[in-house]
Parts: sequence; structure tokens; C-alpha cells
Amino acid sequence: MNKRSVYIETYGCQMNVNDSEVVAAILNDVGFAYTEDITQAHLILLNTCSIREHAENRVFQRLHEIKKLRSENPALLIGVIGCMAERLRDQLFDNDLLADIVAGPDSYRNLPELVTIAQNSKKAINTHLSETETYADISPYRVGNNRISSFVSIMRGCNNFCSYCIVPYTRGRERSRDAESIIQEIETLQQTGYKEVTLLGQNVNSYAFTQGKNTTNFAQLLEKIAQKFPHIRIRFTTSHPKDMGEDVVHVMARHANIGRWIHLPVQSGSTSVLSRMNRKYTREEYLQKIAKLREILPEVSITSDILCGFSNESEEEHADTLSLMREVGYDLAYMFKYSERPGTLASQKMPDNVPEEVKIRRLNEIITLQNSISKTQNAADIGKIFEVLVEGRSKKDENELKGRNSQNKTVIFPKGNAKVGDFVNVRITASTSATLIGELVE
Ligand code: SAH
Ligand code: SF4
Ligand code: F3S
Repeated sequence: MNKRSVYIETYGCQMNVNDSEVVAAILNDVGFAYTEDITQAHLILLNTCSIREHAENRVFQRLHEIKKLRSENPALLIGVIGCMAERLRDQLFDNDLLADIVAGPDSYRNLPELVTIAQNSKKAINTHLSETETYADISPYRVGNNRISSFVSIMRGCNNFCSYCIVPYTRGRERSRDAESIIQEIETLQQTGYKEVTLLGQNVNSYAFTQGKNTTNFAQLLEKIAQKFPHIRIRFTTSHPKDMGEDVVHVMARHANIGRWIHLPVQSGSTSVLSRMNRKYTREEYLQKIAKLREILPEVSITSDILCGFSNESEEEHADTLSLMREVGYDLAYMFKYSERPGTLASQKMPDNVPEEVKIRRLNEIITLQNSISKTQNAADIGKIFEVLVEGRSKKDENELKGRNSQNKTVIFPKGNAKVGDFVNVRITASTSATLIGELVE
């Protein structure tokens, strides 16, 4: 019994990456060793994402592949966890998909029990969403080779209901994790040699943890962590433009160990589209925030998510997105075309009426523009010296190391005497749209 092992494959966002580590810890406690070899596993879990149809299709495909493993090993258990589990529930028991276990994002503590039920050849499901679960007391089992940089969840869920987005339905209501348990987790990471943590939430700016009469907001939490861990580089994501306050930027300015990077997804550069998306800010308000941010933190890098082809998006509205991108000059952006998600407000009230070929063309225009902006932004770094946290060997050349600077840009350089986990100074000598290339400064 105690020689069982679990293999977990993770899709979707960083929250899911961190959740898989929570799941690995919960299962480890009941005797499931974590394995990276799927053929050795007694239990295979797919931690899934519902954000776009394409993300779900990949998981369906994968479930079909995994079926073959089961024909070789009838005792193998297959579980679908995460956002697709929450959205599709018992549909995942379909004869064609053959899941044995379905567990939503708030029912991971229940997994050992679900496994037992499934072992008795019964379908095991729990998709109950909680208003309080934060897994605060669970010390995540850190997965993968990277022992330098880690995610730390500070909140779960989302209350924003952007009209296109499935997350509030799959993740439930927003709740913040006990500040002390967050600090405790970072303490443990520091003791194990970690050098960087990224605080995670769908909207970190609305973090609010109340105990008795005291509420800790995000700026206060960030400052507490920055002060307590001067040798750890601290990052956070995602910030929501409607909630991102100046107080957070001032905290960043006061503490050099907070990464000079803000991910501030705009989605669209058109106020009318933003209103249909229920984003609760205008183009002008967004641009003012960016101006203020750069005034207080001139060296900050700014990244974004951009979503094109939303309901009724006109050519003019699309052009507004392109012009906003030029005006802001993002260092990097994640770019998507709209994918209607069943159950969202948009799916009920707003027709998905931009033709696919128009979506593709607009997305290509956005990608081409962003590539050229990233190239220019990165070229402006040539000659600068950055502190880089070394994370590993570069993929292409084993004499080169790769790491990231405070701005969260990837930097590659000949290794010299530097080691993984060191903070080193690197002078930038060349760049591409995706990377900075440099040399060690002694
Ligand atoms: N909480 C974060 C983002 C979470 S989802 C935020 O508010 O910014 C990550 C990104 O996926 C979103 O920023 C959006 O650009 C994209 N996205 C969300 N729903 C989508 C949909 N229905 N179709 C295409 N892209 C979507
Ligand atoms: Fe989705 Fe909006 Fe919440 Fe982000 S803020 S997770 S886009 S609903
Ligand atoms: Fe996907 Fe769920 Fe994250 S839908 S983006 S895995 S919160």
C-alpha cells in the first residue's frame, strides 16, 4: 500500500502550478510518492485549465492518450482536477474520457478519500467551492528542478466577473490567506535555499486579511515581506488596473528587493470594449496609472495580457488596442483571441460575432507589433548593468547560464565563476525581442 506513486501534469496558470504542489503534499501524507515518470504512476492527475476552448481540448486529447496506459494497467487511477473539473464535473466520467476522480480547486483535501472511493471502482467527485479554503496550513511539496524561485499563493478565487472570463465560476469567491502563514511559508523557502518568491493571486491588489480588528491589505503585506526577507527577491502577479494603488508602487520604491516589474493586463485599448468586458477602467485611467507608475519607478518593466476579437469589436476599437500598445511600450505581452466560455455573462448576452479569420488577423497584428516593441525595449537595455539571479544553464549552450533581472527579463551570459542561486551583475551587450545577452561584471 505505501509504495504507491502519483504523477501530476499541470495546465493553465501559475495558480495551478502552485496547486499541484499542494496536491502533491496532501497525497504524500497518505503515502503517494511524487513521480515524474508517468509509466511508474498508480495515480495520474491532470490539473486543468478552462480559460480558452483550446486549453480544454488539449486535456481531452491527453485523456485519450492516457487511456492507452490504462489498458496496460487496469488498476491505474486517472483524475481530472482544477478548473475543468469544476466546470465539467460528472461529464468527465464519460465513457470516452474515463476519469475515475474529479476534484475541483477547493476539494484537494478530500483527494485521499476520493482515491479510496475510486479504488473501490466507484466514480469519485467533489466540486464543492469553498468561501474560506486557502490551504494555508499545507506546506507545498516543491516540484521540478528549480530550487531557486517559487510561487506562493496569497489568495484564491476572483470576484471581478470580467464578462468573458470563466475563472470566477471555476475558482469561486475571492479569499485571502492568513498573512502569518504566508510569511511562514517564505521563511521555510528561505531556509531551503530559495532566492525568489512570486506572490500569486488573480487580483493581488484586493488582498485583505482580517484578524480581529486588524486588516492587512496588499501594500502592507508586501512591505512586511520585503522587510523581513531582505535577501529574497519578491515578485507578485496579477495586478488589476482598477485596484492597483499608488501605495503598492511606493512600497516597491522603498524596497530594492521587490522586483521592478508589474504585470498589469489591459485586455483592450478601447474604452467601449473595456466597458463591455466589465473591466471597470477606461483607456485614459489605465494610461494615467502607467504614467504614475513610471514617474515613481522609472526603471520598472511593464507587461500585459491582450485579448482581441471580443464581442462586437470594431476595426476602430482594435486600432485603439494597437495605439495603446505603442503608447505604453510593453516589455512583453501575452496575447489571445477571444474564446467564448459557456456560463459567462458574455456567452449569455454578447454574441461571439467577430469572424475567426478577423480574430486571427487582429491577433497577428498585435503579435507583430508587440514583437517589434519588445525588441526596441530590450535594445534600450544594452549597456546597462543588471543584478541577475542565476536560475540554471542556458538551453542552447552549456557554457552559458540563464537568469532573470529585477525587471523579470531573461538574461543569458557566459558562466564564468557564477553558480545557480547566485545574484550576479551582468552588463548587457546584445538583445533580441525575448532575451538580453550579456557578460559578467566582476
Ligand atoms: N486575473 C488575471 C488573468 C487571468 S486569465 C487578470 O485579470 O488579468 C489570463 C488571461 O487570459 C486574461 O488576462 C485574458 O487576457 C485571457 N483570457 C481570459 N478569458 C479569456 C477568454 N474567454 N478567451 C481568451 N482569452 C481569455
Ligand atoms: Fe478573470 Fe477578470 Fe478575474 Fe482576471 S480579474 S480572473 S480576467 S474575472
Ligand atoms: Fe486556467 Fe483556472 Fe488558471 S481557468 S488560467 S487554470 S484559474
